[in-house]
Amino acid sequence: MESALRMDEREADLAARTEAALWDDLITESDAPRLSRFLRSCPAQLSDAFWSAHEAWLADEQRHFEAVFEVYRSAFGWDATRQERLEARCEDFAPIAHLFDDELAVLCLGAYDELVTIRGYRGNLPLYRTLGSEAERAMRAVIADEGRHFRTFVKLARERHAEDLGRVPALVARIRGTEGVPYAATFVLDHDDPVYGDDLYDEAAELLIRRLRPR
Ligand SMILES: [Fe+2]
Ligand SMILES: [Fe+2]
Repeated sequence: MESALRMDEREADLAARTEAALWDDLITESDAPRLSRFLRSCPAQLSDAFWSAHEAWLADEQRHFEAVFEVYRSAFGWDATRQERLEARCEDFAPIAHLFDDELAVLCLGAYDELVTIRGYRGNLPLYRTLGSEAERAMRAVIADEGRHFRTFVKLARERHAEDLGRVPALVARIRGTEGVPYAATFVLDHDDPVYGDDLYDEAAELLIRRLRPR
């Protein structure tokens, strides 16, 4: 009897942990249009090539929101309280505005964020799997897209900023040093879920620096 109770408690803990992780994924994916609006208004000169990649990225992120929303809704339901919680958040880019100086800085931030997200989503696959094969399939499809986003940002940085790649280690160090700023609906650097941590950030920073090493 006692062990059955403990099992129930463990299952309830796992369900709560899974719901919290998916909620965090949901709010981040829903914030892509806020980042897009901020990019349109920030002083960085962004090229046509950047905006073309950005539009495709934004469409993907909106599909991610719909996919994660469906996984969440199927597993945990949806109601007016959750809708209000989702909409009530306020964005504040001021604490991370220094990461948006110019196109190379923005590409480094985007690539770093996609890498960290991939690793976080992969780390949470055992949680998604508890919701069934359809949920796992949906989240694996999101991970594949984030990988494509990372490669797109790296490619743009290499093609358009080859002469400037010597700046990358300092840019990435600045991004890495901004981890820990409380998340304020900015899409990037939402790493509140416990799957994220210093080792993951360091690995992502090192990998990005390697991928953007000048040739
Ligand atoms: Fe996404
Ligand atoms: Fe992405």
